[in-house]
Amino acid sequence: MNCEEIYRSKVISVKEAAKKVKSGDRVVLGHAVGEPAAVIEEMVENKENYRDVEIVHMVAMGKGGYAQPGMEKHFRHNSIFVGGTTRDAVSSGRGDFTPCFFSDVPRLFRENLPVDVALIQVTPPDEHGYCSYGVSNDYTKPAAECAKLVIAEINNQMPRTMGDCFIHISDIDYVVESSHPIIELKPARIGDVERAIGENCASLIEDESTLQLGIGAIPDAVLLFLKDKKDLGIHSEMISDGVVQLVESGVITNKAKTFHPGKIVVTFLMGTKKLYDFAHNNPMLEMYPVDYVNDPTVIMKNSKMISINSCVQVDLMGQVASESVGLKQISGVGGQVDFVRGSNMCKDGKSIMAMPSTAAKGKVSKIVPLLDEGAAVTTSRNDVDYVVTEFGIAHLKGKTLRQRAKALINIAHPDFREGLIEEYEKRFHDKF
Ligand code: COA
Repeated sequence: MNCEEIYRSKVISVKEAAKKVKSGDRVVLGHAVGEPAAVIEEMVENKENYRDVEIVHMVAMGKGGYAQPGMEKHFRHNSIFVGGTTRDAVSSGRGDFTPCFFSDVPRLFRENLPVDVALIQVTPPDEHGYCSYGVSNDYTKPAAECAKLVIAEINNQMPRTMGDCFIHISDIDYVVESSHPIIELKPARIGDVERAIGENCASLIEDESTLQLGIGAIPDAVLLFLKDKKDLGIHSEMISDGVVQLVESGVITNKAKTFHPGKIVVTFLMGTKKLYDFAHNNPMLEMYPVDYVNDPTVIMKNSKMISINSCVQVDLMGQVASESVGLKQISGVGGQVDFVRGSNMCKDGKSIMAMPSTAAKGKVSKIVPLLDEGAAVTTSRNDVDYVVTEFGIAHLKGKTLRQRAKALINIAHPDFREGLIEEYEKRFHDKF
């Protein structure tokens, strides 16, 4: 059979595809905006056909119907990164959370959580039979490679991205054809606080640096202040629309990169159609699985690597909580520690933890004497490097506990400094 015939022999309806999943199966869903919605939504609609199907997922950008009340007997959500649609399921006990560095998730599937079914979304096959993973390579490709059954939603609106980002049609068991726009994440609102944080972070970025940026208002705000920089590069878990503007304006050239020069290296994309159009058939952008992109020993091959991530709380020792407020899991480690470590290990690297100085509409300080009881330490005090708020920059690496506390208090919100100073004087027997 030629590729076209192989492809045709695998096409089934959404209803038939949903029936291929059996009670008790572990199903891994394609990640983030690469989620293959058709089959999982069909399963949710016909929940009575399923008992105890485990749905493993990270950033859930779809409807998350499997994690809603009433689904308990049918689906059990196992989350590696809690998001908007899955947070309640985990905090109310209807779902579970599995801690894991993003770079280690492929190994989890190979060694700890054998995958019965990988539900993925890819492009139509090219003339050689290869389908691109498009917006989400990350753990999706490794999960499909070790799954017993691969069901692919083939969406002709998925951008065709390059790199090690393809699956051959012969490695897909069943195909569901679809045509719909990729889920979009609109740019976050950037207020004065985010602008100030962005400007502080940008002051730490030299020409010819390679950047990793997370999701949201702070990374977007950093990009606003990079317009006068020269020859920046990208090696990042993900990118959003802001990067496209800087490529178009000639700031991001990737020319000075010491690793994959000339290329943007990422593992997933999340933004608007503008980003997806930029990524389509663009040899400047290469997508690799997350156990490559996020491996600290790979990241460190870039020199002047700068990671910028955000967090929930930082205590006066520099311990960073990024994924839980007390015991309440609100996200996950994602690639934060992978990139903190990779940047710390590389030549002339920096890792930046950037956050507003307060949360809950200014009612609580994010710089605290002690982390909330039950909070998970995401980035340890041994790994932390720079902490940035709208009030300035605290460089913690190489500083004593006393010096760290002082530096952090100096960038805390003025409304909370008095209380923090009291704690400092008690803890260190030292006048502030
Ligand atoms: N005390 C109490 N509540 C807090 C808090 C604090 N110190 N800090 C945050 N919160 C609350 C917010 O009020 C908000 O609650 P709401 O949803 O009810 O409004 C919620 O926690 C989320 O905080 P917010 O500041 O809106 O989140 P964000 O979208 O800016 O994301 C992180 C911040 C830390 C959650 C996010 O960056 C993250 O998950 N980081 C870890 C993963 C990572 O870094 N990955 C690598 C890059 S992709």
